[in-house]
Amino acid sequence: MKRNWFDEKRKRFSALGGYQKPDIHQDALKLDSNENYVISKQFQNDIILSGRKNSDVREYPLGGVERLIQMISKFVNIPSSMIGVGNGSDQILDLILSNFASKQTRILTSKPTFGFFEERCKLYSIPLMAIPFLDNMKLDITEFLKQSKNADILYLDSPNNPTGFQFSKNDLQKLVESFEGLVIIDEAYGEFGDYSLAKRVKTQENLIVVQTLSKSFGLAGLRLGYFIANKNFAETFMNILQYPYPLSTITIESAILALEKSNIMKNATSQIKAERKRVIETLRKYDTFEVFDSKANFVLFDAHGAYKRVYSALIEQSISIRKLGKIGNHEGCLRVTIGTKEMNSKFLLAIRDLLG
Ligand SMILES: Cc1ncc(COP(=O)(O)O)c(C=O)c1O
Repeated sequence: MKRNWFDEKRKRFSALGGYQKPDIHQDALKLDSNENYVISKQFQNDIILSGRKNSDVREYPLGGVERLIQMISKFVNIPSSMIGVGNGSDQILDLILSNFASKQTRILTSKPTFGFFEERCKLYSIPLMAIPFLDNMKLDITEFLKQSKNADILYLDSPNNPTGFQFSKNDLQKLVESFEGLVIIDEAYGEFGDYSLAKRVKTQENLIVVQTLSKSFGLAGLRLGYFIANKNFAETFMNILQYPYPLSTITIESAILALEKSNIMKNATSQIKAERKRVIETLRKYDTFEVFDSKANFVLFDAHGAYKRVYSALIEQSISIRKLGKIGNHEGCLRVTIGTKEMNSKFLLAIRDLLG
């Protein structure tokens, strides 16, 4: 009998499990996906409406990506020749992995790291050298410096999802500078953190910094990520690896308008950082929880043996957070997104009702 090779391959893929999306809870307060609700739906709808007016969807968006890249260039203050875009930063990471890595590539990262990245490595059978977080949910720089000599690619999400950890700028620079292979710094949450490494790309050829409009700009549904890298990499990525038309016309036109109004993003980011402090301080009042510092728009805490109960009780109150369970020696990890002041207060009140 003819061997059904494609079904065997399909079975191998299907055994991988894939990226675990959060459960859908209709009408629940959605604090489970690190989205940004501080920027109002009305503001975003106005942007999309104006974006639509500037669009003619009968045509392919010829020249659209180039105009968008000009806007991103202005926003990050880096030449447009060093910028590329993707259908979410997910797609950029995927294209880098599928084209630059193989079974023989050794990728150094943290454990945990961004779940999508880990899943994609599994899909392509790329082995990960993953250094675990310490009990205080911090990473040990000396361990990374030591292991970096054995790796071909360094991938770090800075700040990290799901811990919210970010190395000090000095530590990360030291690591990135000394690394000889390809360095991917994923700054999906960069605006909520202490610094960005984007400017280093001008002097370091092997560095790619990936950013997105999903988090700080509150445009997760628009699916727009971008990267900053040396000119040769950006050119090859955009002309050869990337699809000819990776973004829809509506995405391009709307994102241009969003970037023109980046002060809205900056105000929202400041509010989220202030609220993050309040949420951390309030959660720390409960002995049941161990709450970790965060440089992102979410907070990770260990609710120990109570985590399933806390998660379910919040669902009963129509509040959805992310149930992660075991991370290192922490058995009961939960991750909550920082929402609007009202959303965070509802979450904290529900916790008080449960534990107070
Ligand atoms: C660390 C990290 N990188 C990238 C992404 C994906 O972002 P995008 O919406 O741009 O695909 C996420 C989304 O949760 C993330 O947590």
